[in-house]
Formats: sequence, structure tokens, C-alpha cells
Amino acid sequence: MQAFLKGTPSLGPKPQKSKPTAGPSGEKRQKPVPWVEKYRPKCVDDVAFQEEVVAVLKRSLEGADLPNLLFYGPPGTGKTSTILAAARELYGPELFRQRVLELNASDERGIQVIREKVKNFAQLTVAGTRTDGKMCPPFKIIILDEADSMTGAAQAALRRTMEKESKTTRFCLICNYVSRIIEPLTSRCSKFRFKPLSDKIQEERLLEICEKENLKCTQEGIAALVQVSEGDLRKAITFLQSAARLTAGKEITESIVTEIAGVVPCKMIDSLLQTCYNSTFEKMESSVKDLIDQGFAATQILNQLHDSVFEDERLNDKQKSAIAEKMAEVDKCLADGADEFLQMIALCSVIMQQSSQNN
Ligand SMILES: Nc1ncnc2c1ncn2[C@@H]1O[C@H](COP(=O)(O)OP(=O)(O)OP(=O)(O)O)[C@@H](O)[C@H]1O
Ligand SMILES: [Mg+2]
Repeated sequence: MQAFLKGTPSLGPKPQKSKPTAGPSGEKRQKPVPWVEKYRPKCVDDVAFQEEVVAVLKRSLEGADLPNLLFYGPPGTGKTSTILAAARELYGPELFRQRVLELNASDERGIQVIREKVKNFAQLTVAGTRTDGKMCPPFKIIILDEADSMTGAAQAALRRTMEKESKTTRFCLICNYVSRIIEPLTSRCSKFRFKPLSDKIQEERLLEICEKENLKCTQEGIAALVQVSEGDLRKAITFLQSAARLTAGKEITESIVTEIAGVVPCKMIDSLLQTCYNSTFEKMESSVKDLIDQGFAATQILNQLHDSVFEDERLNDKQKSAIAEKMAEVDKCLADGADEFLQMIALCSVIMQQSSQNN
């Protein structure tokens, strides 16, 4: 142990060594931040698609009569970004640190913290001017991100604090599941629902990033990114960054995106269905084995089969409903840890059986 501790100081010079090499190399040293942070909206106007929220928020910001806020909606739709951008606009970069207290699920937010940290911060009074002489609202903002993970007791402790400190403090609660916020808190806040972003908006943002990062990406590639991320722009941007790393300057195509996202190529799903409809049990078994051997997750195959089967005009409603029932069963079994290959075979057998009844 002692020897180990003695040995550690030799690690000291290492970071120093790397410093001079990193310093002069780039005139404008770019911080290595993930793209989701790099392209986080800087002002409220940059927030795309959430028009109602932005409109109400902007009017409140102008009038300095901001209510307590509650933002809710699915992941990656701009909740955290919106309040951070609004706070930065209100206070400017300098005052921001003094006036805004951000607590998220990574911080201890039990009842003790609400009683001490939040209450103490809320009780401080503040002036109505900024250091640069501009006016700013005479209150502070406490952001409680991921508030749905706060205990009921901690939420209850907030109730009275929220009312008592309303002269000096505004609260902004952010969560994915609004039903997990206790009723007395929701009734003290203006609620804003964040919608999953539309395909068009996501496409625009992704194209913008491609342009800024000098990436080449085909139209189908962008469409695939949007499709796999299901309204979550953060997911789409993260996939785009991985794809950019993988291609290293070459064009990003649909196949690369599907590869990264672990999506089964449509052709393979189609051919599996084709086999179920027209071929023998042995062939079906071998195509399922093939898919599983390639490492595709059974839940992913199931989801895609679900979409394809329901769009398929060769099956009638009765057949589709029988297949859907089996799909639900297989889904449950997979969630319980059943064997992927056997479950897929079971599902495909039902598809086979149902489609043969048609003829
Ligand atoms: N409406 C939007 N306009 C512009 N960019 C967005 C929008 N929504 C999400 N983004 C992008 O996605 C990233 C993540 O957004 P943000 O952190 O605000 O999501 P969130 O709603 O807080 O999600 P979570 O519920 O998971 O915390 C941002 O950095 C930004 O690049
Ligand atoms: Mg967030």
C-alpha cells in the first residue's frame, strides 16, 4: 500500500507534459464536448418546435412576472435546454451562477436538502439590476431537474417553501412523468407539455449540424436517423456523432445509421416474412437462426416484425389479430428472459400458420 502511494506522485508530471503540446497546436482550442452539448440551444428562440411554451415563456420573461414552472415530456425534447437558455437570457452569463440553483437527480434531494440548501438559497434577497447595469428580475430561479425522482416527502417539503419565498424565488420543476409529481405541487406551477419533435424539425436540426461539422449525409441517412430516434433529438444527434466517427469523412448512408442503431435492415425483415408466407418450416428456422446469429436483439426483430405485419395487405384483420396476440405473449416472455431463438420461432410459426389459412 505504502509503495503504491509512493509511486503515485510519478503520475504528476504527466498532465503537465500534455499541456504544452495541446496549447499551441490549435489557435482556437476546441473543447471536446459531445455534440448534444455543443448544439444545445443558447437562447429561447433556438428551441425548436415547442412554440407554445416558448411564446408563454417569452412573455413572462418580458413582464418579470414569471410563475413557478413545471416542464414535462419525453426525453430529448428540450426541457432542460429551455430553462437554462431562459435563465441565461434573464441574468446574463455573470449573474447566472449567483441567481440560478440547479439540482438534478445526481444531487442529494432528500427532505434535508430541501430544508437546508433550497430554503437558504431561496431566502436570499437579490437586486433588480445586473452588473452591466441592465435590469433583471428581482428573483432567483431554482431548477429541480428530473423532479419525478424526488421522494414524496421531499416534494411535500417544497410546498410551503414555494409559497413563502415567492417574493424572491421561482421554481422550475422538470420531469418526464408528470403523474409522479404530487398534486399540491402541480397546482402551484404553470404546466408546460413538451411534445416529441416532428420529423421535419429533427431533419432540419440534423442538416444544420451536418453543415457546421462538414459532414456528408444522404437524404435517406437523415430520414433513417429521424426514424430510429422516435422524436428524441438527443438520440438522433448522438447517433449522428457516432456515424460521423465511424465513416471518418465519408458519406453517412442509411445502412450506416441502421448498423449503428442496431436496426435490422428492412430487406431481412421482408425476406423473413416472405419465407413465413411461402416457404417451409426448415427455411424459416434457418432464417431466424441467421438473424439471431448476426447479433440482432429479439426485441428489435419483434418490433420491426410488428410494424411490417400490420402494414401487410396480404393478411386480413383476423389473421393480424391472432399474430398480435402471439407478439404480446412473446414480448412478455422475452422481458422475463426467455430464449430468444425459441421465442422467434414460436412467433414465426404463428405467422406461418395464419398466412397459410388464407390460401
Ligand atoms: N426543442 C429543441 N430544440 C433544439 N434542440 C433540441 C430540442 N430538444 C432537444 N434538443 C437537443 O437535444 C439535446 C437534449 O435536450 P434536453 O437536455 O433539453 O432534453 P430534455 O428534454 O431535458 O431531456 P430529458 O428529459 O432526458 O432530460 C440538446 O442538447 C439539443 O441539442
Ligand atoms: Mg433534462
